[in-house]
Amino acid sequence: MAVIGAVREVEAGERRAALVPAAVAALIGSGQEVLVESGLGAHCGYADAAYAEAGARVVADADAVHRAVQVVVAVAPPGDAALGRLASAHTLISFLDPLGDPDRVRRIADSGATALAFEFVPRTTRAQSMDALSSQATVAGYHAVLLAAERAPRLFPLLMTAAGTVKARSVLVLGAGVAGLQAIATARRLGAVVTAFDVRAAVREQVESLGARFLVVDVAGDEQAGGYATELDADQHRREQEALAAACADADVVICTAQIPGAPAPELVTETAVRGMRPGSVIVDLAASTGGNCSCTVPGGEVDVDGVLVCGPLHPASAMPATASDLYAANVRALVALLAPDGAFAPDWDDEILQGCLVAKDGAVASARVRERLRGEVAP
Ligand code: NAI
Repeated sequence: MAVIGAVREVEAGERRAALVPAAVAALIGSGQEVLVESGLGAHCGYADAAYAEAGARVVADADAVHRAVQVVVAVAPPGDAALGRLASAHTLISFLDPLGDPDRVRRIADSGATALAFEFVPRTTRAQSMDALSSQATVAGYHAVLLAAERAPRLFPLLMTAAGTVKARSVLVLGAGVAGLQAIATARRLGAVVTAFDVRAAVREQVESLGARFLVVDVAGDEQAGGYATELDADQHRREQEALAAACADADVVICTAQIPGAPAPELVTETAVRGMRPGSVIVDLAASTGGNCSCTVPGGEVDVDGVLVCGPLHPASAMPATASDLYAANVRALVALLAPDGAFAPDWDDEILQGCLVAKDGAVASARVRERLRGEVAP
């Protein structure tokens, strides 16, 4: 039997929980033992009693969790205190930002702990149930549109009322990956007219199937392994910025979701583009944590630029913590099932999913990409 433990998140603004009662019950049903730190689900409406009813042992603090478990599950990468609790007895499953902060992976390896990073779960059909990047991006994309709708001074849908006609608002979505597609669907449901752009021309069909217009820009983006975008060269990037400035000027709301894994977010909306937008327009930049797609974005803040509000939420999925945690916990459960297939902790380290997301093992950094970053061979 494997013993799994979830610790409370301590980072400011982080309201998710790595396990929810339904996942606890499922883990116990598959032969695991589960411990949770008291207060784990406080932001999600899950009281300690709900975890206990599902079969978890509720303990007072993170130290008590670490003393008893083999597998530690968390959402945000560990800070100094959490790193100090890790030891060779532990396997950590969490977001770890392995390319953004490779030194943290080195510190985990130094502790002797094994670590699996959700960022590196392969984007394959078999690994879909463990794809926490996707599950959290879905929540973030949905929330971004609600945030914009709440901050915008006008309604989104076309309304014919006795007091006059309310014009439909136009929403521009930049980046049509998981978050962008969810933002398109959500904005459409609210009645907006939606246009979207992505460097990967392959997503055009998906954008159009959601009822949005695909903005055609003369740049030829490429795909790397896993369907991710590669960075554009300087000339293409400039052409993209110019085309997007014109599109932003026509939009009431811009939702930015474009990311390049392991690199700063591409700057798509320049300050000139922001100043070219109508006062009352709103930009929500979901790429804020990697620098932002908009040059006016203040990560974690909201700024007014000549009447245009630019929001850069840092924990967008945490704004809807219960759904985000339900989905995340299901991803955790699926990954734990690989580590302990028959209840006992017996990972097959040759499994391609485990190989993909393993970043620390036996006192060493186990990921070649992270080792390259640590040697400074790849610029952040
Ligand atoms: P992401 O969060 O890395 O990036 C979001 C979007 O930004 C991407 O669509 C990317 O093409 C776009 N982007 C990057 N640079 C841009 C630029 N300069 N201008 C405009 N757009 C730009 O991507 P996400 O959402 O994590 O998805 C990445 C890929 O993985 C997609 O192809 C998706 O379909 C695929 N995927 C596959 C899964 C599977 O097979 N199990 C599961 C989830 C995603």
